[in-house]
Amino acid sequence: MLPETAADSFDLTGRRALLTGASRGIGYAVAAALARRGAAVALTGRKADALDAAVTQLRSLGTDARAYVCHQGDPEAISQLFEQLDRDHFPLDILVVNAATNPVFGPLLDLELDAWHKIVEVNLTGALLTAQAAARRMLTRQKGSIVFIASIAGIDPLPGLGAYSVSKAGILGLMRALAKELGSNGIRVNAVAPGLIETRFSAALFQDRAAYDRIVGQTALQRHGQSDDVAGAVVYLASEASAYVSGQVLIVDGGGRMG
Ligand SMILES: NC(=O)c1ccc[n+]([C@@H]2O[C@H](COP(=O)([O-])OP(=O)(O)OC[C@H]3O[C@@H](n4cnc5c(N)ncnc54)[C@H](OP(=O)(O)O)[C@@H]3O)[C@@H](O)[C@H]2O)c1
Repeated sequence: MLPETAADSFDLTGRRALLTGASRGIGYAVAAALARRGAAVALTGRKADALDAAVTQLRSLGTDARAYVCHQGDPEAISQLFEQLDRDHFPLDILVVNAATNPVFGPLLDLELDAWHKIVEVNLTGALLTAQAAARRMLTRQKGSIVFIASIAGIDPLPGLGAYSVSKAGILGLMRALAKELGSNGIRVNAVAPGLIETRFSAALFQDRAAYDRIVGQTALQRHGQSDDVAGAVVYLASEASAYVSGQVLIVDGGGRMG
């Protein structure tokens, strides 16, 4: 028999989580996984229809789920999002910064400045502003967990995805800087770095057979991942199970990178 003190450290009952870019793909899978552990979830995305469908699906599982339209590349929209969360009395325990964009594929030397700006605005500036606003609110309660969805591209740049890779390396730097700044206030900050996950975002890599075979061939598990494969890692980092973990990158790539 288990001792009474053996509470489930993965339990998220009563916690409130904000997830950016969560109407589909990895963000949605993470939202569903946090909700299954008892968290209330607020989802952002650019398109209201897609968000409403996701929230309806989550509510059918008995979850407290809410939708907030917010473009992560728009500082004003981020500011309005947090004002609305305050009005809705939704104090955050967990933030998952998941939304990202990659409008281009090709050599960095051919990169147009517009594409660079778009990548930086959404993937880095938007991530910073979202984390700042969430952390300010977490500070008042001296607790919280922030998880950035990075990428293995942020550790080892992927061919043809130079600017995206730079933005994800930046996310890892942002994660570590925030972890140092916020740790003494009870706020932990970590990142998950997925490998190849089957979503709309990665569709082009699935069509490029050579790239697909190269990536999957390097994985110990010899397969690509599904969004649910990423969700468990985020549940761990969001919960008390990781109470003494901060400033870390959890690689979820089927054993593609080791050591
Ligand atoms: N799939 C992979 O192989 C892979 C690997 C490593 C890392 N990642 C990372 O995982 C994260 C999620 O990717 P995914 O594969 O799940 O993509 P996805 O299936 O395309 O889903 C992206 C989600 O983000 C939303 N979104 C897109 N741009 C946004 C913006 N500017 N502001 C707010 N929401 C936005 C989308 O909804 P709307 O279109 O309605 O806005 C959608 O809900 C990203 O950070 C990506 O870099 C993915």
